[in-house]
Amino acid sequence: MSGSIKIGIVGGAGWLGGAIAGSLVRAGVLSEQQLILSFRSRHPDLHGSALWTRDNQELADSSDVVILSVRPEDWPSVAIDVRGKLLISVMAGVSADSLCRRHGTARVVRALPNAAADISLSYTPWHASPELTEPDKTLVRKIFEACGTQDEVASEAQVDYLTGLTGTGPAYPALLALAMLKDARSHGISEEISLRAISGLLIGAGGLLQARPEHPQKTVDAFLEYRGATAAGLNAMMDRGLFAAVSGGLNAALERTLAMGRQN
Ligand SMILES: NC(=O)c1ccc[n+]([C@@H]2O[C@H](COP(=O)([O-])OP(=O)(O)OC[C@H]3O[C@@H](n4cnc5c(N)ncnc54)[C@H](OP(=O)(O)O)[C@@H]3O)[C@@H](O)[C@H]2O)c1
Repeated sequence: MSGSIKIGIVGGAGWLGGAIAGSLVRAGVLSEQQLILSFRSRHPDLHGSALWTRDNQELADSSDVVILSVRPEDWPSVAIDVRGKLLISVMAGVSADSLCRRHGTARVVRALPNAAADISLSYTPWHASPELTEPDKTLVRKIFEACGTQDEVASEAQVDYLTGLTGTGPAYPALLALAMLKDARSHGISEEISLRAISGLLIGAGGLLQARPEHPQKTVDAFLEYRGATAAGLNAMMDRGLFAAVSGGLNAALERTLAMGRQN
């Protein structure tokens, strides 16, 4: 990336803003000196060579690109005019239209990283307003590739849906792990061994997926065809409504995302 471009992160002291800043620097997309980070209550002891400010308008004026990373309920306090610059919001639910109207630009991206941005392994879907240029899009890809993997998706509605699917980061795997833990406990397996076993299972599955990407249908079919203990487990989980439970959960998450958008 150009050695002179400056990226400002409103809410850079927060969890996701800090994780994006860290990923950008680690990936060599820019140096800390090219980052402008704003904070509200606490100036964290991080990214010491970046410019830190409490003044979000100063951040907008000094940056080429502005990333908005405050909680949706705090967004009303961010009254900045970015004067036509590229604006990337990672806030759940806040629409591109509202962002355009409040911040004085038509070049708006809605993106939804997840907690794995902290280790540069986020999956980030994003959608761009029609006014984005090709160089803008190249930059957006670069930013979110630094945080992990990314996809430009066809509509804002898809960003809203994926908010409740991939924006959730480790939450659903943690719920699966918890369900397994409770069951292992009921069979007298110690907490320590259960935790090691389940973490090993999830990490191993993730590692296999990374090393040899395979459609989940193929994996499930291979185990079903083997007709062993795993097939019995899979069939019983499906018979007890696993797909309906997952679909119901994802729809509840989507409803909540849309409700957050309506509040803003
Ligand atoms: N965490 C995730 O996994 C995740 C995943 C996807 C999307 N998101 C989205 O990312 C956004 C940030 O989430 P987060 O988890 O990083 O929350 P967070 O840790 O609470 O960070 C938000 C930061 O914004 C700061 N802030 C609030 N108003 C501000 C203002 N006017 N000027 C400057 N800074 C201000 C807060 O400061 P204070 O310390 O004063 O509160 C806080 O440091 C949210 O919109 C969320 O929807 C998060």
